This record gives sequence, C-alpha cells and structure tokens, in this order.
Amino acid sequence: MRYKIIDNIWSELKDYINRHKFLLITDRNIYNIYKGHIEKLINDEDDILILEPGENSKSLEELMNIYKVLIEKNLDRNGIILSLGGGVVGDISGFAASTYKRGIDYIQIPTTLLSQVDSSIGGKTGIDFLGYKNIIGTFYFPSMTLINPLFINTLNKKEITCGLGEIIKYGLIEDYDFFKYIGENIGNIYNKDKNILTYIIEKSVEIKSFIVNKDKLDLGLRQKLNFGHTVGHSIESLFNYERYNHGEAVILGMIYETTIAYEKGLISEEYYNEIRNILIPLVEPVGFNENEVNILLNYMKKDKKNKNDKIGFVLPVDKGKVDIFYDIDELTIKKILMMI
Ligand SMILES: NC(=O)c1ccc[n+]([C@@H]2O[C@H](COP(=O)([O-])OP(=O)(O)OC[C@H]3O[C@@H](n4cnc5c(N)ncnc54)[C@H](O)[C@@H]3O)[C@@H](O)[C@H]2O)c1
Repeated sequence: MRYKIIDNIWSELKDYINRHKFLLITDRNIYNIYKGHIEKLINDEDDILILEPGENSKSLEELMNIYKVLIEKNLDRNGIILSLGGGVVGDISGFAASTYKRGIDYIQIPTTLLSQVDSSIGGKTGIDFLGYKNIIGTFYFPSMTLINPLFINTLNKKEITCGLGEIIKYGLIEDYDFFKYIGENIGNIYNKDKNILTYIIEKSVEIKSFIVNKDKLDLGLRQKLNFGHTVGHSIESLFNYERYNHGEAVILGMIYETTIAYEKGLISEEYYNEIRNILIPLVEPVGFNENEVNILLNYMKKDKKNKNDKIGFVLPVDKGKVDIFYDIDELTIKKILMMI
C-alpha cells in the first residue's frame, strides 16, 4: 500500500497527468471550491467527470456513466483514474478502475478527513445497490494515495466529526497513547491546526495500513476495525442514513459498545468513563425507545461479522485493545440501548 502526505498535491498530479491518459473524477462541491487549481492543471474539460455530491452518486447508473466516458475517451490499460474527493468519489472511482478493461491504475486524492484516514486506505471499492450499502464491490488497491491535510480547511464541523470517529477508533483498538493525544487535542482538531491534523492523519494511516497489510481481504484481523460499527451501522440504517453521517454513527456505536464491555466486566470503570468523557461531547447519545431498539437489533442480526446467527461485537478489553465477542445476550444489548 503506497501513500504520501504532501502539501504540493497539484504539482504531484501534474506529473501523473503528463505521463498518462487520464480521467479525473470529483464531485460538484469539491470542483466548485478547487476549480482554480483544477483548471490550472487540466485544460480539456472532457478529462474531468463531475458527480453530484452525496451517497446517491455511488450508484449503478453513475458507474455506467463513468464506463461510458472511459470508453468514449478510449482510455487504454495504461490510462489512470484520478479520484479527487471524499469516500463517495473514492469508492465508485476505485470500483470503476478495478473493473474497466479488467483493471487500470487509480490514484486516490482524498479530500475529507474520513477519506484521508480511512476510505482511501485499505483497497475497498464499491457502489450501493437496491438500497444496500456497498453491496457490490471489489478489493483493489490504488497505486498511490496522495493526502493533503490542507483539504480539511474547507470542511465543515460535521464532516470533521465524521473523520474523528474513525481516528478515535484507531486509538482505542491499537494505541492508547494516541487515544489520549486525540482527547487532549479535540479543540485543535476542530480549529484545523495543521501540524496536529498532519500528525493524527499520519498516525491513523499508519495504524490502518498496519492492520490491513496483515489481512488484505478482510478475513480476520481486520475485523477489529469494526469497533463501534455493529451498533453504528444499525443506527445509520434506523435513521435512513439521514440523521447521522457514518463517523457520527460510529461514535455513538463506540459509546454503546463500550457500555456493553463495562457491563460485561471487560473493562474498568475508570477506562469506561475515560472513553465516554471523550465521545459523549462529540455526539449526544440517543436513548432509544423499545420499538427503535427492536429495529436496531434486527439490523445487527444482519451484520457481516455475525457467526451462526450470533451477533459479533468488537469490544474494548483493555487500554488500546479490543477483541471480538459472539455471546452478548439480547437483554443486555436492549438494556444499554435504552439506558443512555
Ligand atoms: N472504502 C472504504 O474502506 C470506506 C470506508 C469508510 C467509508 N467509506 C464510504 O465513504 C463514503 C463517505 O465518505 P465521506 O465521509 O468522505 O463523504 P463524501 O464523499 O460524501 O463527502 C462528504 C461531503 O463533503 C464534501 N467535501 C469533500 N471534500 C471536501 C472539502 N475538502 N471541502 C469541502 N467539502 C468537501 C463532499 O462534496 C460531500 O458533500 C460512504 O459512501 C462510505 O460507504 C468507504
């Protein structure tokens, strides 16, 4: 897995553009904000494909349009796709790259905090279909991920919280000191302190690549990246992906799953409180009613980590350490989801 954290992204891209036939895929928000840079880099508008911002663009229709443009441009197997955007642009561009002419190179240029620390690292590509998220996809690593922390300057607070969810997760699953560092620097992160952002992005990418490198195809170890995601995904689904973005739902998931771990005696009261004190100010816990809890449970019963119809939970067991459990009883889950 190759990545670089750099400031001079545009001149680095110039290099790729000079050497290859290419298609740059981005979304309308990013294009509007960075139009000056993009137009300085690319003269021919046929080399740019602009998607509408948002999850709806991760669709089969949009994918077919990308194939159509690639064919019209007659991109050969030496051609490359430059994916300039957040996780939506990255996922669909990566999928197109992995399938067009049985695979061409693509470069990820992630522009959201979430995509810089998570979705551009790890080689998962995909689209949504029939209402199922990421149901069609491939493992296909970009030939390079170019990360410029300065893109974060134009992100809003909600999108920063989204990335922060995954960043805090890395600390909790792998590196307690990193978790402490993030906790002490939440204000600086929201204030977009460049040095601190660069450090936490670099550290996050290091942790994610370390785990992914040991389990490229998501068959075992990589499951620990799913801390907060069993409950988190069910919350995203309950609210139809509208009330919370992915990272916010993961933060809520980590709050509830940490509570399960405490209730089951896996972690000390001190560690439980430490985690909650950092997470709760970021996203207020919900306090679900019984009907909502039943819906959440139904979603959790479809989680990809489940085994023999038992819900799989990645839970903290020590500072900076997690493990997977299949024996959490429904009563405990229900109680905790209604309690907070
Ligand atoms: N492949 C993976 O491993 C993986 C991992 C996590 C999430 N994902 C996927 O990522 C997607 C979510 O990604 P995301 O959170 O980056 O969302 P996104 O791509 O929808 O971007 C969020 C919003 O921010 C805007 N934006 C992007 N960069 C900006 C910038 N620099 N300044 C201002 N606005 C900017 C976008 O236009 C969009 O409106 C989901 O589809 C999810 O399934 C994939």
